[in-house]
Amino acid sequence: MKKNNDTNNRRICMSEMLEKARKYEDEQGKQIKAEDRPAFHVSPYVGWMNDPNGFSYYQGEYHLFYQYYPYDTHWNSMHWGHVVSKDLLHWKYLPAALAPDEDYDKIGCFSGSATELGDGRQLLIYTAVDQEKMEDGTVRDIQTQAVAVGDGKDYKKYEKNPVLTAKDLPEGASKVDFRDPKIWKEKDGYFYCVIGSRPADGSGQILLYRSADGFEWEFVSVLAENKKRYGKMWECPDFFELGGKHVLLTSPQDMLPEGLEFHNGNGTLCIIGEMDPETYTLKEETVQSVDYGIDYYAMQTLLAPDGRRIMIAWMQNWDTIAHRCSDSKWFAQMSLPRELSVKNGRLYQTPIRELDAMRKDRVEYNDIVIDNDVITLDKIEGRTIDMELVIRPKDKENAYKKFALRFAQNQRFHTELCFRPDESVLKIDRKFSGTERALVHQRRCLIHGDANELKLRVILDRFSVEIFINDGEQVMSAVLFTEQEAKGISFSAEGAAKIDVVKYDLV
Ligand code: FRU
Repeated sequence: MKKNNDTNNRRICMSEMLEKARKYEDEQGKQIKAEDRPAFHVSPYVGWMNDPNGFSYYQGEYHLFYQYYPYDTHWNSMHWGHVVSKDLLHWKYLPAALAPDEDYDKIGCFSGSATELGDGRQLLIYTAVDQEKMEDGTVRDIQTQAVAVGDGKDYKKYEKNPVLTAKDLPEGASKVDFRDPKIWKEKDGYFYCVIGSRPADGSGQILLYRSADGFEWEFVSVLAENKKRYGKMWECPDFFELGGKHVLLTSPQDMLPEGLEFHNGNGTLCIIGEMDPETYTLKEETVQSVDYGIDYYAMQTLLAPDGRRIMIAWMQNWDTIAHRCSDSKWFAQMSLPRELSVKNGRLYQTPIRELDAMRKDRVEYNDIVIDNDVITLDKIEGRTIDMELVIRPKDKENAYKKFALRFAQNQRFHTELCFRPDESVLKIDRKFSGTERALVHQRRCLIHGDANELKLRVILDRFSVEIFINDGEQVMSAVLFTEQEAKGISFSAEGAAKIDVVKYDLV
């Protein structure tokens, strides 16, 4: 450990490992040109990024940390990267916050969260990964929870770490899969956190813990149990009140598909219900996916000072990882932050309203008829745009068969959204988006609303698309690999459809 005296006379112990990471990212990060990154989605300073961590509002700014390996664009020993923003769209890089530099976290500082302590300091809580030697000589990972305290830039790990270990687990719960604490301060004055865990049946459960000061924790309850229904281990839980209900978000591993609601592999799950105040268990009422697209995982929320519940996620999925090009110095991006609400037992998501301030150069078309045709519209193109579309049949009695929107399009490439009103199915297809990998290219989503009036809001940011369906009742997110010159947008219909289009440039 090296002592580092800063001007405020604070004495922060900065390990050599953290110092090395900060020096490296400082040198390498600034070599990445702004136009080679997404314009308003967070990407890592340099290297690899996965889950959002510590998404919070602290001392006048939004903070976002992320799972981070600066030295390579592939996952490796986990650090925490750090960005701050005033509007959740323009982000400033801060130095890496955590490195795996202690005995108890030498394998990695895995996902976690942040809150403000009573004395104004910021508390980070994260999963510390260590290894243990088994009797047969093999080693396995052990996960505990640790905390660090700081001023919004530099953090010091607590001397008595880890703060939650195998002895704090309920009977049968695994010490290998015990991770991703999400902390919040409750009205009763206690800090609570939910943590993903694997019970004896091998599936997932969410544990609830409580602490008076953020350092000493006690087990409260098994808040929710998977009972082998939705995948196996439940990663990255989050839990909050919204619209008079309680909402549990989690990202399950090893899902089996269920209709068009859940797809195979790593998925997203939202359970809405009521919390039983006696037993501290969640009584499930409705269950749904969080995102119906291709790339979305490990979402985390914060409570903004104005009361909005805002969610961000890794706009990527462990099952669909492909690098855009071999010489890119950064990998992965976060989703757009989204405002959440609960209506009729469903989770609604809309792009944060701060995005409205970035909208410029409005172009509008109304009642454009597409009758067995493919059309383009003057000034409707671009790769950093916010576009609203309403699609109806030309005559109410005569449904069109198929409507398709193509974007990120040139002679060679395009990504397509296609809607069939008779099935109420919206499909995204990025087969022609420029990837050389045999990835998941398509995903279909069953639309709940009126098939005769489909409303879409399509947000493009250089390497991604997010589609908000029917005022945010469903969302589809996907990363794109397409060269930036492919800016074209076209509309087509089998049968006769009628569309309204409003488009804004964002850059
Ligand atoms: C989810 C996850 C977390 C873990 C982290 C490790 O994407 O597997 O459960 O803490 O990534 O980087």
